[in-house]
Amino acid sequence: MGSKHRLLPHLAQAFADLAPGRGRALDAFSGSGVVSYLLKHQGFAVRSNDYLGFPGVVAAAGVVNDDVRLTDEDVERICSPALDDRDFCRRTFDGVFFTPDDLAFLDSAWSHVATMSGHARSVAVAALCLAAARRQPRGVFTISGDLSRYDDGRRDLRLSLREHFVERVADYHRAVFTGPVPCSVSTGEVGEVEPGAWDLVYLDPPYAPVSDDNDYTKRFHFLEGLSRYWEGDEIMWETRTRKLPKRVTKFSSRRTIEAAFGELFEQFRAVPLVLSYSSHALPDRATLEGLLREVKGEVEVRTVPHTYSYGTHRTAVRRRVDELLLLAP
Ligand SMILES: C[S@@+](CC[C@H](N)C(=O)[O-])C[C@H]1O[C@@H](n2cnc3c(N)ncnc32)[C@H](O)[C@@H]1O
Repeated sequence: MGSKHRLLPHLAQAFADLAPGRGRALDAFSGSGVVSYLLKHQGFAVRSNDYLGFPGVVAAAGVVNDDVRLTDEDVERICSPALDDRDFCRRTFDGVFFTPDDLAFLDSAWSHVATMSGHARSVAVAALCLAAARRQPRGVFTISGDLSRYDDGRRDLRLSLREHFVERVADYHRAVFTGPVPCSVSTGEVGEVEPGAWDLVYLDPPYAPVSDDNDYTKRFHFLEGLSRYWEGDEIMWETRTRKLPKRVTKFSSRRTIEAAFGELFEQFRAVPLVLSYSSHALPDRATLEGLLREVKGEVEVRTVPHTYSYGTHRTAVRRRVDELLLLAP
């Protein structure tokens, strides 16, 4: 999800500079949860917020969860034959992203996960989501059908979802640790988050790329549905990849994105802010800096050179963009 892992050392420094006494930190657009995880490591009481549901499950498993790990029996049970005859994945995604065996595994795994609760359930669901993301070329669910042209021999593309699941659970088990203070999760529009309850707010909002759009539901609809077994979801049956409807917000359109940023900065006017920004996006750097200065006065800009890879290893296009951190105390 435009994961920020390469930026983490720079973010860590920015967070320490702006909130040396630690306290409560909001990761307002948490996505993969990697920045929330960093903040937890730094000793903050983190709130991870995202308007999609699956980032909430991922953050519950890896950030809020201090010490719950699945037992070997749990993992065996989830990988064993189904508890019921559910077949939603097989029926709905036949020939779309995964093999029939992989889809059958998702159905049967969920028949067990549905009987679980608490952080054990979050770890299981987060590991299923991570398994599906790693098994899918490029990790996004906009491409389907014959995916062989994306096959660059990577091990991730050869493992079955069941094998991935077992490994991804182990990944979570290595990552889980007890923080000094409790962390929490919320799922909702950023505008609904209480504005004043924080000592630090990190903003990594959806910038509008110069071409394409910034619709996260389009890219990650499969993970979103999988995180709740599509319960309550309305599938767009006319779409080949069985999408979920877009979530339209002020960040979705070039016409309204500037206003969205203005409101966002206003919302957190009283709190030290760190904002990630990469060049080649809208609003442009000068506009964004101007908007932030208008509300916060003082703004420091730190530049982090960054190389993005698009596509698989064989066909990867590398593009140098400057990743900026805007700090407003
Ligand atoms: C650039 S990504 C964040 C990436 C994250 N920092 C990471 O390292 O993985 C932006 C995130 O904002 C979420 N999002 C988009 N619009 C939102 C809104 N209006 N309110 C809350 N979250 C939103 C998306 O679901 C996506 O996860």
